[in-house]
Amino acid sequence: MNKVYVKHSVVAKIRRFTPWIYANEIDSDPEEFQSGEVVALFSKKDGFLGTAYVNPKCAIFARVLSFGKEEIGKKFFHNRIKKAIAKRGALLHVTNAVRLVHSEADFLPGLIVDQYGDALCIQINTAGMEAFRDVIVHTLKHLLNPSWIEEKSDVHSREIEGLVSKNGTLFGEAKALFELHENALTFLVDIQDAQKTGFYLDQRKNRAICASYVKQDDTVLDLCCNTGGFGIYALKAGAKECVFVDVSESAIEQTKANVERNTLSGESLHVKDVFTFMKEQKYKNTFDMIMIDPPSFAKTKEQANGAKRGFKHLLMESTKAVKDSGLIALFSCSFHVGKKELLEIAMEVSHDLKVQYILLEQMQQDSDHPCLINASASFYLNGLLFRVEK
Ligand SMILES: C[S@@+](CC[C@H](N)C(=O)[O-])C[C@H]1O[C@@H](n2cnc3c(N)ncnc32)[C@H](O)[C@@H]1O
Repeated sequence: MNKVYVKHSVVAKIRRFTPWIYANEIDSDPEEFQSGEVVALFSKKDGFLGTAYVNPKCAIFARVLSFGKEEIGKKFFHNRIKKAIAKRGALLHVTNAVRLVHSEADFLPGLIVDQYGDALCIQINTAGMEAFRDVIVHTLKHLLNPSWIEEKSDVHSREIEGLVSKNGTLFGEAKALFELHENALTFLVDIQDAQKTGFYLDQRKNRAICASYVKQDDTVLDLCCNTGGFGIYALKAGAKECVFVDVSESAIEQTKANVERNTLSGESLHVKDVFTFMKEQKYKNTFDMIMIDPPSFAKTKEQANGAKRGFKHLLMESTKAVKDSGLIALFSCSFHVGKKELLEIAMEVSHDLKVQYILLEQMQQDSDHPCLINASASFYLNGLLFRVEK
């Protein structure tokens, strides 16, 4: 195994289990290494620090696989995946779909595995994980005996890693629709055609939190609803009407199917860009509750300011649209617009519209998408539930 020497200044951070080492933090020539190669990390002064894979094409040069001396092969993947699966057990009481492997936070950087009943959907995001594709698929079959494994490795970061997109069925026979059960609700998921790896599993807990605030006969607005998650929970909790808005036609079709599947009613469905929709509707003091769950407006630090303007605009329009003492749930799934930024945006809107926000809940991704405290980017989903006092 080749050795990568890191600068002395980063030894302390690696000893604190930080799994990422940037290209400017190494003391070796990056060009001497292959994309995806497994290396031993060393400090000239402190000796061995861990085992990692590297990619000389990326700003994150190395991702640590183990802080010990471990052989990275079948046994390693078997142990890590088995441990990750065991941690999800408690959630199986509320759902039949969970994230089994969440990248760095399950000590398998670059690997995502979602379980939908006896089907699996995997995403491989780095050259280092790509090198172990066969071992990963073999291990998943051995541990879970799935009927079907789908791959949806189509994220932009693969391009940076020098990898092409890979989508398709790796094993078994794909099913048109999976019936996902979550709390007392059912969602039909078209795993192959849906966004991301199928369903926004990370919002499971937050859908239930928001629904717990819904009162009988409330009117609700679900902005960027995807397949209806938040609004369908609200209808089930007693809301008499929910306006669903998403730019994706297939997501709105699926929302309709999901409302029907749960024998609910009161839906009003709109395939529209959310900014255009709010501009056209000019709602005033109309809704008891509004959920704003846009896509990741800021994929990079440079895009953060533009993203904040987008959030501010949506919060302004929603604040006008909500009734006095109504509720707004504002979510950001971008690490670059976190809780602090969302609060700053709310303070600006509070000033501009002369309203007050009472913070009722601070939300984050559900527990099958764990946050590793040494990898701040793993805290990617933040939500604030406000009561608006006009
Ligand atoms: C994070 S997902 C929402 C997940 C959803 N709340 C749930 O619980 O399943 C973001 C959604 O925003 C939609 N979207 C993206 N850009 C949009 C836009 N400009 N206007 C409306 N919807 C948009 C996407 O199609 C996607 O469904």
